[in-house]
Amino acid sequence: MRKLAVMTMKGGTGKTTTSVNLAHGLSLSGKRVLVVDCDPQRNVSITFGVESELGLAQLLMTGDVEILQVRENLFLIDSGGRKLVEVELVLGGKEQRENRLFEALKYLKGCDYVICDCPPSVNLINVNALAYCEEVIIPIAMDILSQEGARQTIGIIEEIERLTRRQPLQYHILPTFYDARTRISKQVLDSVRDEFGDRILNGVIRINTALREAPGCNKTIFEYAPLSRGAFDYYRLTEEILGSSEDNRERMLADGS
Ligand SMILES: Nc1ncnc2c1ncn2[C@@H]1O[C@H](COP(=O)(O)OP(=O)(O)OP(=O)(O)O)[C@@H](O)[C@H]1O
Ligand SMILES: [Mg+2]
Repeated sequence: MRKLAVMTMKGGTGKTTTSVNLAHGLSLSGKRVLVVDCDPQRNVSITFGVESELGLAQLLMTGDVEILQVRENLFLIDSGGRKLVEVELVLGGKEQRENRLFEALKYLKGCDYVICDCPPSVNLINVNALAYCEEVIIPIAMDILSQEGARQTIGIIEEIERLTRRQPLQYHILPTFYDARTRISKQVLDSVRDEFGDRILNGVIRINTALREAPGCNKTIFEYAPLSRGAFDYYRLTEEILGSSEDNRERMLADGS
């Protein structure tokens, strides 16, 4: 099971769009995928047009949860909305507060991928997501502030690795909102390539109005506009993630592990 957090400190960089469309892309290729909405904004749940009383907030407090099936092979844990903010306050003083999500999902079986859609902040829920996941996708919209948001996120990842003494988290940079008509997109993409090198995913996500419209119809890009640039880009990203799973598997087989 591969556990990915989609996270960056900068808001509005395409985290939720990536979580939803990558998750659906993977499920369309036959993988079983669970999306955990870690954001009180509930943007994943709103995109799929569902709501649950027993969401992440409840899971972290009591261990009870309802896993909603939103598509074939695609499952969702709602965030619990405002209740998730309250949970943070309650958990703040408790022991092992950063491992709540890990403990809650420890026995999860039957999934190939878990994708955590994270809010743009340094909070306890994000710390929990980092303690649970093994990889992080960091979207950078093509501007300087998003690039700075990625640096801050990497700083937090390193801090979590130090505090929890866990195996290093692998992170991948995903360029989003790329607009070939603008100079700033090209400049920032060059600068991101210089700075992050082979951490950058090949699948650049271009700016595309259909991606903005799809959530309003409770659809993913593959349902709303399957022939759009957005669908193409998220299809390519899905293939890249699937391909790297294959690489990991082959490496493990070669290691005999
Ligand atoms: N490549 C794109 N082209 C055009 N619009 C996009 C693209 N990606 C995302 N959007 C739109 O931009 C807005 C912000 O995207 P999204 O909600 O995915 O960002 P986010 O990082 O999850 O935001 P937040 O930090 O608030 O959680 C949404 O309206 C979304 O539909
Ligand atoms: Mg979001």
